Amino acid sequence: MSADILAVAGLAKHFGGLRAVDGVDLAVRRGEIVGLIGPNGAGKTTFVDLLTGSEPPTGGRITYRGTDITSLSAHERSRMGLARTFQVPRPFGDLTIRENVLVGALFGRGERRGGRPEALDLANRCLERAGLSAVADQSTGSLSTAGLKRLEVARCLAAEPDLLFLDEPLGGLNPTEVKDALGLIRGLNDSGITIVFIEHIIPAVMSLCHRVVVLASGRKLADGDPSEIVANPEVQRAYLGDVKAAVRRFGARRRAATRPGGAA
Ligand SMILES: Nc1ncnc2c1ncn2[C@@H]1O[C@H](COP(=O)(O)OP(=O)(O)OP(=O)(O)O)[C@@H](O)[C@H]1O
Ligand SMILES: [Mg+2]
Repeated sequence: MSADILAVAGLAKHFGGLRAVDGVDLAVRRGEIVGLIGPNGAGKTTFVDLLTGSEPPTGGRITYRGTDITSLSAHERSRMGLARTFQVPRPFGDLTIRENVLVGALFGRGERRGGRPEALDLANRCLERAGLSAVADQSTGSLSTAGLKRLEVARCLAAEPDLLFLDEPLGGLNPTEVKDALGLIRGLNDSGITIVFIEHIIPAVMSLCHRVVVLASGRKLADGDPSEIVANPEVQRAYLGDVKAAVRRFGARRRAATRPGGAA
């Protein structure tokens, strides 16, 4: 059997004239943590949407554990062991934290393996692993950003994934929370889950990932060893361009605000 858990060929998503994902090839090996980085709007989330079945691609092919899954639904992919956290967590607000995780257990692989008692047991183990047991019966509204990110992980774990996409799991966390989250993610990988990790915090990517892939304007710019990738001048230009654009936008807003009659 191939060592690749995932093989992506020529994957594309065009929104009208916008090429959000523009012909990307990628292989992910079993057991890897692959970092997926790139400037804002590079197409990272859209790429994950295509891989997990939230959006249909406009071109290309996705092979998971040797099976072509390109036209399978998100639910079918989930039952095969693909899971993703959302960049902006969107829990079911009218369910408790435990019930949210139970949804993952009922609709992921657990669905095939028995009824509610087994699913509840699995959900409880996932809550424990994500450090949420003590608050499991509270509403999701009580969770901080870090708690919501943990809930995303617990919900995914309950689906018993082989391949997990984490879309900016560290966004909005303080340094202590980042350290804890990295420990949790490392533990998931140690337990056999292959991980694709999208993140803007480069030191975290460097410390966690076996390999780094860079997307820019929907295209794969680089793919390789983390330290080589970060030193790659083309990668630096892609990120630097982003920073310069942000500084220019900030400057324009300041000028508009200080102009007589300008916005505050
Ligand atoms: N449903 C959609 N309709 C139209 N354009 C979209 C849609 N979803 C995403 N886009 C556009 O596709 C491009 C890629 O967006 P995407 O969210 O995938 O980027 P990203 O790399 O995840 O960015 P970030 O780092 O900010 O999360 C952007 O230009 C975005 O505006
Ligand atoms: Mg994104």
